[in-house]
Amino acid sequence: MDYQTFKEKVGVLCGINLSYYKSQQMDRRINSLMQAWGITEYGEYLHVLETDHEKFREFVNKLTINVSEFFRNPERFIELWEKVIPEMLKKYSQIRIWSAGCSDGSEPYSISIIVSELRARDRVKIVATDIDREILAKAKEGIYGANDLRSLPVHLQEKYFEKNGSNFILKDEIKRMVEFRHHNLLHDPYETNVHLIVCRNVVIYFTEEAKNNIYTKFYQSLVPGGYLLVGGTEPILQYRQLGFEHALTSFYKKP
Ligand SMILES: C[S@@+](CC[C@H](N)C(=O)[O-])C[C@H]1O[C@@H](n2cnc3c(N)ncnc32)[C@H](O)[C@@H]1O
Repeated sequence: MDYQTFKEKVGVLCGINLSYYKSQQMDRRINSLMQAWGITEYGEYLHVLETDHEKFREFVNKLTINVSEFFRNPERFIELWEKVIPEMLKKYSQIRIWSAGCSDGSEPYSISIIVSELRARDRVKIVATDIDREILAKAKEGIYGANDLRSLPVHLQEKYFEKNGSNFILKDEIKRMVEFRHHNLLHDPYETNVHLIVCRNVVIYFTEEAKNNIYTKFYQSLVPGGYLLVGGTEPILQYRQLGFEHALTSFYKKP
């Protein structure tokens, strides 16, 4: 089997369109695992992924480790923009937002853009954390490629980025709103008095026990009336036991 066919088939298997990944980085990840597992042929590689659940998990985990983009799943950002953040701004004079597992910054910066559009820059503080120091350094730079911005409406791309060759450089006024910090969700103390926690596509490969722990701590971090936004593929089934109410798709509210 050739590499292209492998990539197409494995994309279907994972439900991830691999063409959205920076290909050099992805090729390196795919081939380094292949080597580590002592596999020499792509047909065999595919067979292993189809039949060995643990290896399949490891593969997806490795591939998606830092994947992010501006307005990823745009409908959720529209809800943040039109409902959740305005509701918070009505209720509180200052609000604190935590993007946990923020990767390259696309997620917290998307929120900064929304806050800026809502003309509430001086009333919102955004903390963004990740376990990966390298990706945090990249996030602080605020330099992106066209692919990272493909879900962000064009007028916002033009308003908040400066183009330099193929790079899109985020303006300082948006960068300034986010404070990046190193944080391990599995070990470190959590933020407190948070009005909105956004934690998407981070816990997806954790065990149920670890996830429950994290969600319990998120609950404690939130103020009453605060929201937790999770990824589209990771609904919290036991939200009631944790004390949450289901508010909107992927949004949970602490009563
Ligand atoms: C797939 S990215 C998600 C980025 C963004 N939240 C989004 O949905 O677009 C997952 C991020 O979680 C981070 N991560 C993984 N394990 C973590 C942990 N234990 N504590 C904090 N961050 C973690 C990774 O470094 C990675 O940047």
